Amino acid sequence: MNEQFLADVASGLNAEPKYLLSKYFYDKRGDELFMQIMSLPEYYLTRAEMEIFSSQTQNIIDLLGVRKDIPFDLIELGAGDGRKTKMLLAALLKEGYDIEYVPVDISANVLEHLTNVLGRELPGLKIRSQASDYFKTLRKLKQRERSKIVLYLGSNLGNLTDAQARKFIYELGANLHKGDKFLLGVDQIKSADIVLPAYDDSQGVTRDFNLNLLHRINEELNGNFDLSQFRHIAEYREEEGVAKSFLQSLKVQEVRIRSLKQSFHFSAGEKIQMEISRKYNQAIIDNILDKTDFEVLGVLKDRQEYFADYVIERR
Ligand code: AVI
Repeated sequence: MNEQFLADVASGLNAEPKYLLSKYFYDKRGDELFMQIMSLPEYYLTRAEMEIFSSQTQNIIDLLGVRKDIPFDLIELGAGDGRKTKMLLAALLKEGYDIEYVPVDISANVLEHLTNVLGRELPGLKIRSQASDYFKTLRKLKQRERSKIVLYLGSNLGNLTDAQARKFIYELGANLHKGDKFLLGVDQIKSADIVLPAYDDSQGVTRDFNLNLLHRINEELNGNFDLSQFRHIAEYREEEGVAKSFLQSLKVQEVRIRSLKQSFHFSAGEKIQMEISRKYNQAIIDNILDKTDFEVLGVLKDRQEYFADYVIERR
């Protein structure tokens, strides 16, 4: 059994108010549901970042300042299906850059799929996938003296609080050398009528994505959550710039988790916070990067300015 998962579920369900950690969304079913989310009409994030990667590929390459005579690692944290990166990789290969692509993901499943697709579509590409923790991989890679570009796309940073994000960026800096680059994709603060539907889609895929974590607790920790007795709620206020997802208990109920030897009481209407998805603006990014070793070289946005990709240098 996954002891860390057990401990995190215990902390979250014993807290007031209750919460669960969204990093546990991504088991096999969760990976599939997230792939579906990325294709939903309401989930604008993937399309907007895709537009940046397809229409401004050369700008990205220019800002990164890579050289053909210096080999480098292109490391993608949380690689997913690599749809966006593929365009950048194709352009770099075509222009004759010497790259090795290092997708890092906790899910070996996801990496296997990605390696197969890229092997077929970009046959000349050197790939060295790493099914591991991000920082373990970065520590290992730091020892090989090659230039690095680290990609962290899809507004993955937004699933962290700002304090956690700052810590993440600090740790990233500690594992890079001076002159290495960081490409950070973040969703922009915008009005609720655009953001809310992205987290409460009409087909209910996001609801199932959230409920899947209760199912996972049932399966892996011997729980007895009745999924039909929880409803999914998304909240977002533009002033705050943070979308939040909750599962709300529809009645008074007890949920037993046998691996914890504990039961949890839910009152009618009680909510479990499942996920935060932070949206950004320049001031928030500046604040997170403040007092770190990183400097912004440029920022690229899609036409609607829904999404931003920052090109950042480790000083
Ligand atoms: C992975 N992450 C950036 C997604 C997001 O938008 O926060 C996860 C997600 N949750 C619901 N829909 C998508």
